[in-house]
Parts: sequence; C-alpha cells; structure tokens
Amino acid sequence: MWTGRFQEPTHDLLRRYSESVSFDRRLWRHDLQGSRAHAAALRAAGFLTAAEERAINQGMDEITADIEAGRFEWREDLEDVHMNLEAELTRRIGAPGAKLHTARSRNDQVALDLRLWLRDECAAAQDAVRGLQTALVGLAGRHPDAVMPGYTHLQRAQPVLFAHHLLAYVEMLERDHDRLGECSRRLDVMPLGSGAIAGSTLVLDRRLVAKRLGFARVSANSMDAVSDRDFACDFLYAAAMIGMHLSRLSEDVILWATSEFGFLKLSDAFTTGSSLMPQKKNPDVAELTRGKTGRLYGDLFAVLTTLKGLPMTYNRDLQEDKERVFDAADTVRAALQVFAAMLGEARANEARMAAAAADPLLLATDLADHLVRAGVPFRQAHEITGRLVARAEKLKTPLDRLPDEEWPAAHASLDAVSARKLFSVPRSLAARRAPGAPSPANVRRELVKWQARLKQKTRR
Ligand code: ARG
Repeated sequence: MWTGRFQEPTHDLLRRYSESVSFDRRLWRHDLQGSRAHAAALRAAGFLTAAEERAINQGMDEITADIEAGRFEWREDLEDVHMNLEAELTRRIGAPGAKLHTARSRNDQVALDLRLWLRDECAAAQDAVRGLQTALVGLAGRHPDAVMPGYTHLQRAQPVLFAHHLLAYVEMLERDHDRLGECSRRLDVMPLGSGAIAGSTLVLDRRLVAKRLGFARVSANSMDAVSDRDFACDFLYAAAMIGMHLSRLSEDVILWATSEFGFLKLSDAFTTGSSLMPQKKNPDVAELTRGKTGRLYGDLFAVLTTLKGLPMTYNRDLQEDKERVFDAADTVRAALQVFAAMLGEARANEARMAAAAADPLLLATDLADHLVRAGVPFRQAHEITGRLVARAEKLKTPLDRLPDEEWPAAHASLDAVSARKLFSVPRSLAARRAPGAPSPANVRRELVKWQARLKQKTRR
C-alpha cells in the first residue's frame, strides 16, 4: 500500500507486531458500510462514475458473501481490516477499487468504523440490560410478598421485601441503560472527511455521508476527529459500571446461596459441582461475573492510559483501543445474558428469609419511632430503646418478650401491650409508605410499573 516510498519490505517481526487484522476484522461489516457511503460521496463529487460506484458496491456484495461463508482469506501482510478489504476489492474490480481511498485516510476510516460498531454494540448492550431487568422483575414477581432482612454492614438491619431488594438492582441497571444511551448520543458524530489529520483538497459532501450512515452530526474539527476516542472510554466506563453492579449482585447471590443464608436456590443448569466434594453446588456464574468485573475495569484503564500520553493527532497507539473495547463489549453482554438466564430459573426460599427477618431486634427502630410519636425527642428515644435492648440481652429474652414492668420502667409513655404490638413485620412494613420506602403497597406499585415498562421493551 505504501511501496512507492519504500525500498525494503517490512521485517517479519514488525509485520507480526503491528498487524491488527487478526482482531479488527471484526469491524468488516461496518468498514464496508462506511466505504459504501464514502463511494456515494465520491460519486456525488464526480470522482467516481455511476458505473464505478456500482462496481464497488457489487464487489462489496461479493466480499460480504465470501466473508459470511468463511471463504475470505485475511492476510496478515495487509495489516488491518481496512487494507484487506480495499486490496481485495481492487483485486476483484480493478481501477474503481483503487479509487475508493480518494480523500480518505485509515485515520478517519478507523474512527468511523469504531463509532459504527459501538453504536450497534450500545444498542445490543442496552437490550441485554433490559433482559436482566426483566429477569429480576420476574423473580420479584414470583415472590411479591416475601420478607427478608435488609442489611447494612452485612448485619441484619430492618425487614424489607425481597422484591424491594431486587428492584434496587433494576434501578441500577436503569442508570446503566441510560449511560449506554448517553454513549450512543455522544458517538453520534461522523468523522469521515477528516482525512489523515487536515481533511482533503478533494472536498466531499460530508453531510451526505453522515445522512447515509444515520449520524446526526459531522465532526467540527478534523484533528479532534481522528484522535478522539472519548466515545470508546464512555462505553468502557458504562461497561465497567455494569460490571460493578453485576459484581454486587453476584455477591448477594453468592451469600444467599450459602447454607448459612439459604435464601436462594439456583437451578442445576446454572451451578457447577465439585470434582472432589459430591455435595457441592457452586454459584460459579456469580463468581465468574464478580471476577470478570476486574477485566472490565482493566479495559477502561488500559484505554485511558493509552490515550493520556498522545500528542495530537493520530498515533499508532490508538490501535490498542480495539481489543479492549471488543473484550468489554463481549464480557458485559455475556455476563448480562447468563445472569438473566440464571435468575430466570432461581427460586427464593421464603421461609428461610422470613425466619431471618423475624428477629424482633430488627424492629428496634420502630420502638424508638413509637416513643417519638409520644413526644420523646428521637435521640432520647434511641437511648431508651438501646437500654431496653440491653435489658433483653441481659435477661436472655427476645426484645418483644420483656416482662411487663420493664416497659413503663424504661419510659412513662410505654406499656407492655402497645409496645408488643409494634413487633409485627407486616405492621412495620405497611407503615413505611413514603415514596421509595418498602411498604407492600409501594413495592407492588413499583413492580407493576416495571412489568409494564419492560414489556414495552423500548430502547433509550
Ligand atoms: N489499524 C489502525 C488502527 O487500528 C488503522 C489506522 C492506521 N493508520 C495509520 N496511519 N497507520 O488504528
């Protein structure tokens, strides 16, 4: 491709070191898509005849068929996907193929390809996010009334509905969905026409190219356009964030699946056994996902680090972006899909969860609230309740079974009968009816809202 200037062939070591076709061939469909739009602009500007443009499109149709059939021969010596496709096109159709790279550089070409590829990938990742949200809402819907302890510091804190806990993840994933949408909006800029760095003396209609490819805008600065990978980082960040959310969900699933918790039963199809211990049933999906989150963070940091030292504009370092972006896209999509499938078959053990939530200590705050209603300042109410908890501990009795005389002794406004009534999980939950709090009515409303929203399956 650049033999005009060179007298010696590329050294084998360099050829192998610098090739990217082994991985960027993944961009082939988007590369051809971009080239077709470019050919249309060349034709509109009079650099190609209608017949030449037709020949190019036809050649690309054949190449498409060959690649899809696995017949295309990718050549490492042609370095990357762009040169492989262009060389093959020229081999097939001759002169028109050799005209295709007019007013274009691989620098704006690769920027375009990656944007096109990521645009599709963002949409696919958004669908996968919707899939997991649907699985979480489905699990919640199978156990709409199940009560479990909510935890802070991994210590039992207050009772919540299992559905409320699951819907917390649905909210996280909604933000992830939104972030991917934001990523799509940001990458919606068409870079072709920026050339290597300074556009071209052969001026093409960039808006035509953008329109054909479905981009909202054309880039405003050719130097920025060939060196900008912010959109890739946006995607990697969105993927890392999804990884973090999935890792937290993994941690919950792993805990819930232990004999100690026993809250969740995973199906055989989504657990693995031990080669040694016959009784084992391991939550490998969750563990792998927690593990892969490190990879997603690594992908983001690798690209951020690659970018930080680059002088303007295109530098070959930028070739390092693709494997990280591909890896993150594959990893995050696979994790979302397998998690959705696993949760689709998971069953909660409502009895175990209810037993864990039945400890009256989880309603100690309700007792303090009761005192507040009698006019006691909260700090004092907290103190009084704390002393009652200590008394119960001392007398080795559950908090709600403290002897009658203990209650008025703790505070004049307390009596045993009304105090004991407080220790009812349903009553406590029903009272938590501020927006966002887990009263059964609220949670039911949220569940129905999400069921309806996810059924529409709208993107963005
Ligand atoms: N394979 C290159 C990449 O991935 C394409 C652009 C090459 N441009 C160049 N001037 N060598 O970034």
